[in-house]
Amino acid sequence: MQQDKVKVKLSGIPASMLFPLWGRAQLGKEYSSLFYDAKAVELVERIDFDLAASDMPFMGILSHVFRKGNLPPAFGLVALMAKLFDDKINTYITEHPRASVVNIGSGLDATFYRVDNGLIHWYDLDLPAGIEVRKQLLPEPDRVTYIAKSLLDPSWCKDINTENGVFMMAQAVFQFFEESEMKQFFSMLADNFPGGEIVFTAMSRLDGGFREWMDMFPPEQRDAMRASLVEALKDWWEKAPQDQKNKVNDVIATLKTPTKPNGAEWSDLEAWWTQLSDTEKEEALRDLMAAFFGRVGMWALEDANEIAKWDNRITVIDQGSLLKNVPRDSLSADMRRVMDYSEQSGGFNVFHLRV
Ligand SMILES: C[S@@+](CC[C@H](N)C(=O)[O-])C[C@H]1O[C@@H](n2cnc3c(N)ncnc32)[C@H](O)[C@@H]1O
Repeated sequence: MQQDKVKVKLSGIPASMLFPLWGRAQLGKEYSSLFYDAKAVELVERIDFDLAASDMPFMGILSHVFRKGNLPPAFGLVALMAKLFDDKINTYITEHPRASVVNIGSGLDATFYRVDNGLIHWYDLDLPAGIEVRKQLLPEPDRVTYIAKSLLDPSWCKDINTENGVFMMAQAVFQFFEESEMKQFFSMLADNFPGGEIVFTAMSRLDGGFREWMDMFPPEQRDAMRASLVEALKDWWEKAPQDQKNKVNDVIATLKTPTKPNGAEWSDLEAWWTQLSDTEKEEALRDLMAAFFGRVGMWALEDANEIAKWDNRITVIDQGSLLKNVPRDSLSADMRRVMDYSEQSGGFNVFHLRV
């Protein structure tokens, strides 16, 4: 069925919801035997992300890079995580068929549609701006409640039915927070959902970032990826409104890179970017992200026993690079490289705790 395109207005941190969504849709198309997220594929077709209406040039740039750039399947990895989350939720709701499942920082995640057993009660929690977009694209189904609150606001815990068990998930969310906020958050879960479980992803402090990421690929592929990134940026620049270009130039002026562009035109930016080393690019990208998202707490976690030490009510059920059980035979060489990298660097870990 052909549905109309929906214009969505997203800025700030909620805009980050588009990336895992694109990743799940992409993986669904490429590896349907492994994971297929029909809703993500449908949503990506329907969303019309209005570059001009967004006050975030960074989002516009990334969406272009994602659609046009020949990037390695980083977002495919996000989708493999989703498969893992599905398995864990399915195990829990087999034992607790009427459980409450809370999707913390839900964005446009559609896990409910894949795991629903007809009995669970599902909650999608996100910032008000995130829930607004969710309602626009995915009206609340039966047995699903949308909660427009910050995950740091303890009042959401009272909105959850705790009678039949509580399972929580948070995928690609906690990297925006400070450690002190996460400490309070986990204690809040232990106060309100004793015996409940949570599965979440966290960044690793060992992750080598852009440079190590690039080093995974053969030199000719690295060059092709760099060129394609620059092509995608140029494409964005040609379409972007002037105020967004000005914003990008203002932020670049504040970066700590050893050199600065000689002017404000595309050719100046391209010449400047091309001569930066991968390490300088990595630092510049990190600073650009922080400037455009307004806040990136960068909480990272190696070992969930750290959390158990914060609060002795919390125990670790499972943790580590949980991709080891994913069958690799049908995956592309790029995808396997990314998975190996993730296992070695702990770049994308999944944690499963009882609170
Ligand atoms: C990278 S997206 C991930 C979305 C979703 N979990 C997924 O995998 O598709 C991060 C999400 O966290 C949400 N978020 C960020 N800060 C939040 C907060 N304080 N409270 C609730 N949600 C928050 C954002 O609005 C966004 O939807």
